[in-house]
Amino acid sequence: MKRRQETHVGALESFAIGAIRIVQVGRREIGILRSDDATVHALLNVCPHRGAPVCKGKIGGTMLPSAPGELVYGNDGKVLKCPWHGYEFDIETGASLFGIMRGRLHKFETEIRDGEVYVSA
Ligand code: FES
Repeated sequence: MKRRQETHVGALESFAIGAIRIVQVGRREIGILRSDDATVHALLNVCPHRGAPVCKGKIGGTMLPSAPGELVYGNDGKVLKCPWHGYEFDIETGASLFGIMRGRLHKFETEIRDGEVYVSA
């Protein structure tokens, strides 16, 4: 099994809340998303559908299951929409919403120590 290497990617304060900044970690482009003061996600910048730079997509929410005739928007800030074909992914789990496809976003472990962000990739 290949051992993951921890890489410092920047100070937590340098990442704007709710936006993705793409960093280079070795040969990989990884999108760093700071969700709030204590949560940072690291996502491989490759869509599992056809390989688009998924981290350049929009972060937002989605329409939730609801009663007939009702439109309910929710999960704002928790969904990443691919810029090529519009597939939506749950940022927390990496899974495609509503099971539209089997592939999922590739995520890496993150850690915040002393106000600095590290990614294990
Ligand atoms: S490449 Fe991302 S949805 Fe098609």
